Amino acid sequence: MSKIFAFSIRKDEEPYLKEWAAAHPAVEVDYTDKLLTPETAKLAKGADGVVVYQQLDYTPETLQALADLGITKMSLRNVGVDNIDMDKAKELGFEITNVPVYSPNAIAEHAAIQTARILRQTKRLDAKIAHGDLRWAPTIGREVRDQTVGIIGTGHIGRVYMQIMEGFGAKVIAYDVYKNPELDKKGYYVDSLDDLYKQADVVSLHVPAMDSNYHMINDETIAEMKDDAVLVNVSRGPLVDTAAVVRALDSGKLFGFVMDTYENEVGIFNEDWTGKEFPDKVLKDLINRPNVLVTPHTAFYTTHAVRNMVVKAFDNNLALVEGQTPETPVEVK
Ligand code: NAD
Ligand code: COI
Repeated sequence: MSKIFAFSIRKDEEPYLKEWAAAHPAVEVDYTDKLLTPETAKLAKGADGVVVYQQLDYTPETLQALADLGITKMSLRNVGVDNIDMDKAKELGFEITNVPVYSPNAIAEHAAIQTARILRQTKRLDAKIAHGDLRWAPTIGREVRDQTVGIIGTGHIGRVYMQIMEGFGAKVIAYDVYKNPELDKKGYYVDSLDDLYKQADVVSLHVPAMDSNYHMINDETIAEMKDDAVLVNVSRGPLVDTAAVVRALDSGKLFGFVMDTYENEVGIFNEDWTGKEFPDKVLKDLINRPNVLVTPHTAFYTTHAVRNMVVKAFDNNLALVEGQTPETPVEVK
């Protein structure tokens, strides 16, 4: 009988894990709500593979602790693999899978909703209303159809965001290092990021974080943007130099900032800070700004997405464990 052990299973994931286990009676499934660390790895002892999700890094020590138990088949329940020490994973012979497409709509919808909220100044308006100020001015909105929305990265999520924004009537332009042939035929692509920054009223990031695009949004690239531009980052924190964004918000260059991912989010997001000293002054300041919408990396967090993440990760892990080809292997290089 194969055994799969899952780490950091949340309450909202449990029903889907149980649903999968019930549909696979020949597989022994066990789990913990604890994150995978060098210390907790031993909980998986006896398992053939592990199913994981966490923002905490998969460090050489963590991977070694699993390998010491003979476990080298690891299935992520999420998309991003940027927090895995790939050199160590390769050295130890890890086979890894992720769930690259669990619900692009979850993330794209969130980005679209937040974009519209920024344009309509809803945070300012809600605060006014809560205080009994029911005057219209000065919280006048900008209509989405009047915006040129610049999408960086036309993969699964970027394309859904594009459709939603077009549904609102926006003019959409796009940039991608690999052009989607259909979008290319329809003339969406600009030639360079510089062109996109110059033309877009809304700049929305939908690319993975890599060494090559670390802080791609910085003082220089913001300076290229239109005055009153809106920046949307539901992709990865390290893409954005947060200090540069703060400067641009202070100077009024940026009209607003949608931030679902933050470069220093690990250890802060998905924690309850009520009644405790908040650990990050920059983040606190952003949360308090009327033209910044901070969410703690929850763009993905829908019932549809969570079910797919759990079910697809277990399917992948079972394939690995049984020596079959998983649907979505990750290149370990
Ligand atoms: P995808 O792989 O389908 O699309 C990514 C696109 O980016 C591809 O078309 C690729 O060619 C392009 N690209 C890569 N590097 C680029 C660069 N330097 N410049 C321009 N284009 C580049 O991925 P996806 O499913 O659309 O996800 C996009 C990102 O969204 C993920 O990498 C992840 O970081 C993020 N994400 C966030 C959440 C969330 O909850 N906030 C959830 C899932 C994914
Ligand atoms: C991903 O799937 O890569 C995400 O960013 C969502 C994660 C927080 C579960």
